Amino acid sequence: MNDKIVILDTTLRDGEQSAGVNFTLSDKLEIARALEAMRIDVIEAGFPAASAAEFANVKAVAKEVRGAAICALSRAVAEDVDAAGEALKGAASPRIHIFLNASDMQLEHQLRKKRDDVKALAEAMIRRARTHVADVEFSAMDATRADPDFLAEIVRAAIAAGARTINLPDTVGYILPHQLHAMMVDLRARVPELDAVCMSFHGQDDLGLSTANTLEAIRAGARQVELTVNGIGERAGNTALEEVVVALALHGPSLGVRVDVDTTKISALSQLVADRSGMPVAPNKALVGRNAFRHASGIHQNGVIKKRETFEWIDPKMVGNTRGTEIVLGKLSGRAGFLARVRALGIEVTASKEEETFARFQALADRQRVVEDAEVRAICLHGASASS
Ligand code: KIV
Repeated sequence: MNDKIVILDTTLRDGEQSAGVNFTLSDKLEIARALEAMRIDVIEAGFPAASAAEFANVKAVAKEVRGAAICALSRAVAEDVDAAGEALKGAASPRIHIFLNASDMQLEHQLRKKRDDVKALAEAMIRRARTHVADVEFSAMDATRADPDFLAEIVRAAIAAGARTINLPDTVGYILPHQLHAMMVDLRARVPELDAVCMSFHGQDDLGLSTANTLEAIRAGARQVELTVNGIGERAGNTALEEVVVALALHGPSLGVRVDVDTTKISALSQLVADRSGMPVAPNKALVGRNAFRHASGIHQNGVIKKRETFEWIDPKMVGNTRGTEIVLGKLSGRAGFLARVRALGIEVTASKEEETFARFQALADRQRVVEDAEVRAICLHGASASS
């Protein structure tokens, strides 16, 4: 049996850390319900200590969304831990997620604390969190830039204090996939106790590598991954949920893992998050961008018309894309694409007229980005030309 990968969605927490995003309570509830319907395992609902409104948001999600574990973020500060515990009261499966800096860069220049004090703080706050909930996650922030000796020490201490999930964030999107793999293998060798808990990875996309890093983390033994819808999040964003989930749905068996997510709900969820966050999806975004299943060049169109899989191996239905495969007519389209559209529009062009009609199409296509169906009709039926 392939290992299950736990999907933690942090759209409502780290996704909300995108500059300019502020989810209302109804946004959070709507997105959380959509994540639950998709069978996401853990929903990170927010950071209760951040504000009174945020506390209320997490509390409401925890109360209403029962089909997923609900997670609340907390600094390693007693008041934060207690606020998280309080907000999660009444949740079906509550989780407190404590984070604390692990790299010397952040310890010295941001936190201004010594390694030993940080380790002791992590232990104390994890123990405190365990008085509220059984399920505690600990993130060694900036793990990928941390000294391996100290990373091993703090991870060992966190497990001993009762953390069930150990998350290793690439907080600044620094690491390369092969380096991450080596780091995780090394950490597992230093801390065999990791085998008794869930090792997790949280990627940021500063180098555009977070999906690759997340898959590599899984190859190195991570069994939880942290993602956001459309990859929204701090700076260049987080790891896109749709990319990792579909990659695992398709390639999981070769990695010895599986996900239990309903991928057919991805397109609607992506649109919902784009609307509520005010962050439109780029047309070329994998799987959910407007162009993800659109073919513009003649060679590709020719192939797809003969057999879709020649240039489109993922079925749009898999992500709930209702438009399906599209042929977009423009200056790079060839005769096959043009004639297929003519036929689809129910227009008959005789063999003797084909050359002339296609030439009129090309003349028009040379002057504009896309040739629409009404223009194809006009070219075929009324002999509209380049000047029309
Ligand atoms: O990027 C990061 O390190 C985080 C942690 C709190 C998981 O968001």
